Amino acid sequence: MKEIKVTLSDRDIPKRWYNLAADLPTPLQPPLGPDGKPISPDMLEKVFPMNLIEQEVSTERWIDIPEEVLELLYRWRPAPLKRAVYLEQYLKTPAHIYYKDESLSPAGSHKPNTAVAQAWYNKQFGIKKLTTETGAGQWGSAIAFASQLLGLECKVFMVRISFDQKPFRKIMMRVWGANCVASPSHETRAGREVLKKDPRTPGSLGIAISEAIEEAVMDPSGKTRYCLGSVLNHVMLHQTIIGLEAQKQLKMAGIKNPDIVIGCAGGGSNFAGISFPFVCEKIHGAKIKIIPVEPTACPTLTRGPFSYDFGDVARMTPLLPMHTLGHSFIPEPIHAGGLRYHGMAPLVSQGVIEGLLEPQAIDQVKCYEAALLWARTEGAICAPETSHAIACTIEEAVKAREEGKQKNILFCYSGHGLMDLSGYEKFLNGELKDSSLPESLLQEAIAAIRHHPQPKLQKTGNW
Ligand SMILES: Cc1ncc(COP(=O)(O)O)c(C=O)c1O
Repeated sequence: MKEIKVTLSDRDIPKRWYNLAADLPTPLQPPLGPDGKPISPDMLEKVFPMNLIEQEVSTERWIDIPEEVLELLYRWRPAPLKRAVYLEQYLKTPAHIYYKDESLSPAGSHKPNTAVAQAWYNKQFGIKKLTTETGAGQWGSAIAFASQLLGLECKVFMVRISFDQKPFRKIMMRVWGANCVASPSHETRAGREVLKKDPRTPGSLGIAISEAIEEAVMDPSGKTRYCLGSVLNHVMLHQTIIGLEAQKQLKMAGIKNPDIVIGCAGGGSNFAGISFPFVCEKIHGAKIKIIPVEPTACPTLTRGPFSYDFGDVARMTPLLPMHTLGHSFIPEPIHAGGLRYHGMAPLVSQGVIEGLLEPQAIDQVKCYEAALLWARTEGAICAPETSHAIACTIEEAVKAREEGKQKNILFCYSGHGLMDLSGYEKFLNGELKDSSLPESLLQEAIAAIRHHPQPKLQKTGNW
């Protein structure tokens, strides 16, 4: 009998998060203000609570997870490591495919790992209300859930196209007590500006972020803060619990390090979560191929320049050093709404520049084919975002078969797709098209950021 699950008991949950900033061979370059000068932590004070700003700039390797945050995480963690034996059999591959099942959290994805931590730190700091944006609705529902647990008010700006495509996600947010509005909305200046130019816009994460930040900083009581479900260093940090658990579980299965680690990448957080502990191993000599996977419709890491850019359309965030398609870029309305972000986490971007990570872009039709094969072999219906990691995993498993090599592949099963069935319906009806970003649109989008400061391209190693 093949073992399909490796489980940890509650007492084996990791007690510390891992901070890649401590080990990156080339240090992260600082965020810049509009004047091009590095910003100081106190300049972020109106947007985030100071305890999270401290984590954002920390270069400590290990950061203790507060006992009360562990108590919140125990509701669904440790998450099982599973082996996809039925997919392996179908592909006739000698590869062993392992995945961390993050779909078992209350909101159905990896997002609650950081949502409960962020809500807890905000509460500690005396904050009463959180504002945020959401793409597919996974992050919005996660922060709604976390806010409910901690007794915080919560307002979510949901990208218009997903608001229409995924009606059940907004109901989940309401069930957990949050207020969810479609973005762009008439409730903020940033939203009204966009609607004036294009009343039928599908919206974007960049626009929704502007709205959420505006609502937070305009609260005269000073008791509202903004929170983000990806991109920032502290979000990557909180998600490393995924990879730290996986390390323990792979050891239990007799594997020191996997040969390949894969995660889909929108803003970078589930990818960082599963991969950063293994990036650390790679920096210290292990041979591991580490692949962030993105959609061809929003090819930030594979085709976007590494530049300083804003995180949002209205330029309310500092300039971050990252791969970007330009802050005003609005991707095609593909069904993987959580992968429609113009930028990428600076930590992931620097990992790509260093050559530690090997990004790939895959088209949505191929991803739905992979999602269907997954559902028809393994059984579960994955989120459209997760299908990108599955499509890449299948490619690597087929390569292993062609090379006749037994490889251990680990990927992050970042969420279930039970609220995303309309995309499956379109695919099954043959209505989905390939949606690769045309070169002319890419050039147009990045022309708008040519004048931005350029971060140094620093690479030290031969990985
Ligand atoms: C299921 C799922 N996977 C992946 C992502 C991408 O986000 P990130 O790159 O931060 O993991 C999202 C975002 O909403 C998501 O819902």
